[in-house]
Amino acid sequence: MSDNLIIEVHNLTHSFLDGTTALREINLTINKGEFILCAGRNGSGKTVFSRHLNALYQPSSGWVKIDGRTTAKDPFYARRTVGLVFQDADSQIVGQTVRQDIAFGPQNLRLSKDVVEKRVESALQTLDLYNLADHRPHQLSGGEKRRLAIASVIAMEPAVVVFDEPFSNLDYPGVQSVLRHIVALHQSGHTVLLVTHDIEKAAAHADRMVIFDNGKIAVDTTPQSALPKVEFFGIRPPRCSGADVKELTWLK
Ligand SMILES: Nc1ncnc2c1ncn2[C@@H]1O[C@H](COP(=O)(O)OP(=O)(O)O)[C@@H](O)[C@H]1O
Ligand SMILES: [Mg+2]
Repeated sequence: MSDNLIIEVHNLTHSFLDGTTALREINLTINKGEFILCAGRNGSGKTVFSRHLNALYQPSSGWVKIDGRTTAKDPFYARRTVGLVFQDADSQIVGQTVRQDIAFGPQNLRLSKDVVEKRVESALQTLDLYNLADHRPHQLSGGEKRRLAIASVIAMEPAVVVFDEPFSNLDYPGVQSVLRHIVALHQSGHTVLLVTHDIEKAAAHADRMVIFDNGKIAVDTTPQSALPKVEFFGIRPPRCSGADVKELTWLK
């Protein structure tokens, strides 16, 4: 395994008990520090794939390795190394206050009280949630909830962060704020996998674009080369055709 490799997926197939095959022999390697945009029509397998990366799902066949360790043998390592920000921010809330919600993950890692406090402070600061620290999570706005979900994940200090449709149901400033944090996490050294079909909002920041289609990876290339192909795979193309990918961002 090369030193730079952090995720290795080999012939990953996932079938559900009802007979649905959601992933078919997926092969993918991800290097440390990459920013990958992951797109594909509804039902193409993006969420099921994301859940394999931190061992929430186990392969029906094939394997997933995180830092050389399979998720089947070492699911806890996968969970510590890969943080997953769910599409539904509400389903991720566990604490009575913002601060307690962020503390939950580090506490589960059995870190000392001091370390937990430091991680919570740092996550509050990173996600601009300081003035909401004592608020009740369910009363936050959509954008604030999404930032809380990200804060709760990064408090566990994962090397990789997977965002499953982080822009859904957010208004313009909400998208900008969440995107700004995603880009900052990448710049601070995290490996980022961003699942979204809104390529207009974020493609400028990605090194690589992966398109899922019917449980397979149909395209794996630079965002610029992927652009002409997106419509064929059910992804809305950027409004101006022939767009320079560097213009595809909602950050000003
Ligand atoms: N718990 C489940 N049981 C059965 N089928 C499922 C389950 N979860 C997802 N699927 C199916 O797996 C396929 C991939 O789903 P998903 O990864 O959620 O798609 P995407 O995130 O790309 O929209 C779809 O056909 C979906 O209906
Ligand atoms: Mg999904």
